[in-house]
Amino acid sequence: MRAGVFDSGIGGLTVVKSLLEDKLFEHIVYFGDTARVPYGIKDKNTIIRYSLEALEFFKNFDLDIIIIACNSVSAYALDELRANTNIPVVGVIQSGVKALQNKNIPKNSNILVIGTNATIKSNQYQFFLQKQGYKNIISIATPLFVPLVEESILDGDILEATFRHYFKDIKNIDVVILGCTHFPLIQDKISLFLNNANTIHSGDAIVEYLKYNYNCYGKFKETKIEFFASSNPSSLKNIAKKWLKKEDI
Ligand code: DGL
Repeated sequence: MRAGVFDSGIGGLTVVKSLLEDKLFEHIVYFGDTARVPYGIKDKNTIIRYSLEALEFFKNFDLDIIIIACNSVSAYALDELRANTNIPVVGVIQSGVKALQNKNIPKNSNILVIGTNATIKSNQYQFFLQKQGYKNIISIATPLFVPLVEESILDGDILEATFRHYFKDIKNIDVVILGCTHFPLIQDKISLFLNNANTIHSGDAIVEYLKYNYNCYGKFKETKIEFFASSNPSSLKNIAKKWLKKEDI
């Protein structure tokens, strides 16, 4: 099985990491729109337009499925993407919400959703959570975590100060949905700051979703990956080497 993975930039590599760990695909084509990142501060129409352009790029490959690693794109552009291709397009929001059910998280749990401005404003997580019967939902945009992770600021004073800035009024959280590609890199720190709250990681959630809904039980011996970026592809490849702990990129 061959998958295209789309993200606004490098963040989608956290989703690729999960796909590689479970060896779901024999071939992955990754495209990061590094020339136009961040998407999280852009409006709906712009995110849709950029996403449709990425879809045209993926049409150069013989793919079986397209995985939208970017939460901001998953929040706004899935319908348009699906209307413009015959292959399945899967986003990370519904799978993230499904992960709560898979983990038997009680419906009365206090859930915190964090993501970019675009993702939080779209209300998509809140919509699907409510549809599943979850009522106690707080959602906050935490866009500063994106550049911090990109600067490899994964602990220390600046990160702590940012936690205090965003989470100063947040108490008694049972589950945090990491609604942004970059947040898995500070997952443990977020959980610790919020009294060891459970965390939902988009990459791990989509692996389970793909196995269940798309029969992705490949367990391929190896996954071939090709990386493409709209700007500075060598920088994307260097980050991929580091994040995926893979030298042969
Ligand atoms: N990949 C984006 C997301 O998950 C974060 C970076 C951006 O704002 O483009 O929403």
